[in-house]
Amino acid sequence: TARLAKALQLTLAVVKPDGMAHPLVLEALHQKILDNSFVIVKCKDLAWKKQDSEKFYVEHAGRFFYQRLVEFMSSGPMRAYVLAREDAVSHWRELMGPTKVFRAIYTSPASLRGQFGLTDTRNTTHGSDSMESARREIGFFFPEFSVEAWMQQEEPAFR
Ligand code: PPS
Repeated sequence: TARLAKALQLTLAVVKPDGMAHPLVLEALHQKILDNSFVIVKCKDLAWKKQDSEKFYVEHAGRFFYQRLVEFMSSGPMRAYVLAREDAVSHWRELMGPTKVFRAIYTSPASLRGQFGLTDTRNTTHGSDSMESARREIGFFFPEFSVEAWMQQEEPAFR
């Protein structure tokens, strides 16, 4: 069981406000989670104030799209998932497809962004890009949840 806990990774997946606005996107995203054997450890709907958005994207402060991104991510509800699987981080990134929508459409038409992305900002979904950012981002969205405690369980509680 210790080995099982080690093989698992956690990642944060978020439905952005454009995705929340369309039931088909929510359905397709949820179906991808199930089809790819992710376990949903946590899930909640929430909305950000502008300050939350600025804090979350602080690494992009100063880039030309920062204001646009920050405004958009605090413009409506979102759905956040903590997902568990082997290689959860890279696997979710693959299902999302590339950030840039033109690239997503041409290289990964079956990905979430390839199917549903509208622009480089309104691109349906977010996913952590490393285990380190997963830890920070899970803490940001679910401050009550301890990644360490969850990973140390003999048999991870899937709930
Ligand atoms: S980059 O260019 O590699 O740093 O981009 P990335 O780290 O993948 O994502 C940056 C986040 O900003 C959002 N965004 C844009 N990125 C690039 N170009 C433009 N024009 C742009 N507009 C917005 C992009 O959707 C990424 O959001 P997250 O939530 O991290 O996926």
